[in-house]
Amino acid sequence: MEQQKPLNLIIDCDPGVDDAVALALAAAFRDRLRLLAITTVAGNQTLERVTANALNLSALLGLDVPVASGCAEPLVREKAPAADIHGPTGLGDCRLPESGRRPASDNAVLFLQNTILSLPPEEGVTLVPIGPLTNIALLLKAFPEVKPRISHICLMGGGINGGNRTAAAEFNIWADPEAAHMVFTAGIPLTMCGLDATMQGGLTRPQVEGLRTGGGKVSAYFGEMLDFYFRSLNYRNRDVVAIHDATTLLYLLYPDLFATAQLPVTVDCGEGLTRGMTLADRRSFLEDGGPRVTVLTDVKDPQRYQEILLDAMARLDQGA
Ligand code: RIB
Ligand code: CA
Repeated sequence: MEQQKPLNLIIDCDPGVDDAVALALAAAFRDRLRLLAITTVAGNQTLERVTANALNLSALLGLDVPVASGCAEPLVREKAPAADIHGPTGLGDCRLPESGRRPASDNAVLFLQNTILSLPPEEGVTLVPIGPLTNIALLLKAFPEVKPRISHICLMGGGINGGNRTAAAEFNIWADPEAAHMVFTAGIPLTMCGLDATMQGGLTRPQVEGLRTGGGKVSAYFGEMLDFYFRSLNYRNRDVVAIHDATTLLYLLYPDLFATAQLPVTVDCGEGLTRGMTLADRRSFLEDGGPRVTVLTDVKDPQRYQEILLDAMARLDQGA
């Protein structure tokens, strides 16, 4: 069978513990995923902190790709880092080796435009936003000529049955709802890896402890990060630590691992209780309730999800 060409990928992130695991998957599956660039956006921590984390992670993982720093705050709203979940460094209390790497000189929005338009005309790119959508919204608004070159946006965000930053909204969408609205209405094929699925995947305490103490050069860092994440408010009483952002890459690699639904989704850009809510219209009798979003609704095989993650970590240790 003909070897499928690797998928062109750009990850827009706010590392962030689960962002770090997503980058690790990009490194572990580099035979199937061609990571063109990493861009950063303020979210889990400040822009400076998440950019430093992205640079150090790229070095640790052997990802020799440019890192471009983007927006330091949302389009309209006040910025609100989630330091209490991802800790003072943004990677829990894990301190990675300083890479000495520097970000690209261009802002991420301009860097994205240049990178996408520089692709061979027959090639497209899959964007994987796993933080607030500020960079992506500005890219699409400032440079609409990139839209035909973006084959797919596979994002971590939202949820059609409640939130985590508030009862109604997931953090990435809540942090910049106007940006999310611009992305959801851009007319580009969109997959929403929301909490409905991401809260079903993840690793157990023994599995995290095994990473932390198993002797692997790379996985020890991830075990340390995930151990902190496990002790955070959201997960300290759960048996599994959700690794939200990793779900985007797992979907791209193993789509059959997930159940999905094609639904119209609207982002609430109001104030108050439902700010940032991703409202799915499930009134199936509607002929045209608006453009459909591929919504991940379930992880069909959580054990397989774990096996893939742990195997990826083991392969990174072997390559270290
Ligand atoms: O709600 C989970 C999302 O918010 C993840 O992307 C996590 O990294 C945080 O940014
Ligand atoms: Ca993130």
